[in-house]
Amino acid sequence: MKNLLSAGQITRELFKEIYSSALSVRKALREGRKKFSALRGKCVVNLFFEPSTRTRSSFEKAGKFLSADVINISTSVSSVKKGESLVDTVKNLDMMHPDVIVLRHPCEGAPHFAQKFVRAAVVNAGDGRHQHPTQALLDCATLTEHFGSLEGKRITILGDIANSRVARSDAILLKELGAEVFIYGPSPMMPRVPEALGVKKLNSFEEVREVSDAVILLRIQLERQNAKKTFPSIREYAELFGINRKRLKELRPETVILHPGPFNRGVEITGEVAYGDRSLIFPQVEMGLAVRMVVLSLLCGRLEKLKEEIQ
Ligand code: CP
Repeated sequence: MKNLLSAGQITRELFKEIYSSALSVRKALREGRKKFSALRGKCVVNLFFEPSTRTRSSFEKAGKFLSADVINISTSVSSVKKGESLVDTVKNLDMMHPDVIVLRHPCEGAPHFAQKFVRAAVVNAGDGRHQHPTQALLDCATLTEHFGSLEGKRITILGDIANSRVARSDAILLKELGAEVFIYGPSPMMPRVPEALGVKKLNSFEEVREVSDAVILLRIQLERQNAKKTFPSIREYAELFGINRKRLKELRPETVILHPGPFNRGVEITGEVAYGDRSLIFPQVEMGLAVRMVVLSLLCGRLEKLKEEIQ
């Protein structure tokens, strides 16, 4: 695999390899081992045209833990501000011989386009509403660890599906791993053709309760909403679609809650649910670091080296 651009590239076999390696990496990190040499001599560039906390910092930590040189480019203080294009930016960075460029961009397809102009491997760290493949990896890894297997599991993605790259990426990989995927949320936030995503639309919270082994909550993507308002008010959204203590009790007791973050407290989730014992939100973040260490090693042809090191 030269680049990681879409969750559609991840087969069951590849997921199994990434998942088992990520568990070993996480165990090593939990034991306090924080320096590995697998990417010594390699260089990772983080190029983010949109804000990020988890993805950017975990790719940075992943590169540093693996002994790569890591360059972080914040576009707000780069020559992008002077009008430099995406292609010119990545072409110039590529001339500095990075091995991986991790790219987040508001436009769908930007990483697919950029990879044509560079020698470095490109990781899509989120492109508009389209894809976020490492989020799908970490979500499916977290769920696989919780359930043992995703075969036959029923997962509901709840919220602003139409604007969500997480929903699109998760749906692809969850199905590849044998799960059944449902969506629920306000009608204007639903995709026009749910079947095109291979998911089934639910029509009530009672149906969510009935089917869900896990619920993945999504943030309302205000930055991607068009001028037409797609919901009446935040308060009404929270009442009808948010998960608070009362709503959590309405779900089956074994149903777990995930969220890619950042979550908006009191809108799609309350603080007590996010920090509660049925939440996998913080395990997701820890898994994200391990998964990204594995992905960087894989793209640099150093996964075997990393596996030897963490044995
Ligand atoms: N889940 C996720 O992509 O979070 P960030 O936007 O903070 O990277």
